[in-house]
Amino acid sequence: MRIEGSGAIVTGGGSGLGAATAEALAGRGARVAIVDRDAASAEAVAARIGGRAFALDVADAAAAEALFPEILAALGELRLLVNCAGIAPAARIVGRDGPMPLSAFEQVVRVNLLGTFNMLRLAAAAMSRLEPREEGERGVIVNTASVAAYEGQIGQAAYAASKGGVASLTLPAARELAAHGIRVVAIAPGLFATPLLLGMPQKVQESLAASVPFPPRFGRPEEFASLVLEIVGNPMLNGCVLRLDGALRMAAR
Ligand SMILES: NC(=O)c1ccc[n+]([C@@H]2O[C@H](COP(=O)([O-])OP(=O)(O)OC[C@H]3O[C@@H](n4cnc5c(N)ncnc54)[C@H](O)[C@@H]3O)[C@@H](O)[C@H]2O)c1
Repeated sequence: MRIEGSGAIVTGGGSGLGAATAEALAGRGARVAIVDRDAASAEAVAARIGGRAFALDVADAAAAEALFPEILAALGELRLLVNCAGIAPAARIVGRDGPMPLSAFEQVVRVNLLGTFNMLRLAAAAMSRLEPREEGERGVIVNTASVAAYEGQIGQAAYAASKGGVASLTLPAARELAAHGIRVVAIAPGLFATPLLLGMPQKVQESLAASVPFPPRFGRPEEFASLVLEIVGNPMLNGCVLRLDGALRMAAR
């Protein structure tokens, strides 16, 4: 899919991997809508890259349905969706104060899995109404899973379950949306230097970075963005989950 002149939604675009992706897409000539529940950070990124900012909780079905026409009007043709919005609070199933509140588990699944699917369903419906481009392609959807989908650590039951869901919906979504010329690919990042990780104590950061076989460091958000650009441009990438992790395999803790 050609990026130049294409409309793109990047959720979680106000920070980290989403902000780097929004910047990379804008740098290649896409019209970018930054969708984030944090309106101020979405506005800041939009101002920097010449995009549009939209405040939204991606897991809110009614709010997303109400906002979508406005986003589509701002973008023209929506050809690309990159889902980066996510949260990663850690909690044990059996903690000091007893069992994990079900609401804590529910919140993580709600944002990471329902939020991803909510945006995917609305974007796919909009893309399916567009004229096809070369080879019958109408749009590309990139979701963000995590290596925790495969090697969730202690304290990551909710996060790993939510990301496992994102990984598992990739193939059935790609199979179904193939009839509309829409590709669906997921990226499973390892450890990336974003506010999510850089908020941890320095010692924890150092030991985490050293656990990556090669290169022994955190990934850079622009390396994630670079893979998104490749996925968009390479029509054979479809229905798969790509690990981007420097050969990292997470230990139990
Ligand atoms: N950083 C890593 O090492 C890493 C590793 C694996 C997977 N991931 C995944 O990558 C994605 C991006 O993470 P990041 O590291 O850039 O985090 P980040 O915290 O820097 O950015 C996440 C963004 O999502 C937004 N957001 C959160 N909940 C939202 C909601 N309900 N609706 C709309 N926006 C919402 C936040 O406001 C924030 O701007 C997440 O899905 C995360 O799980 C990150």
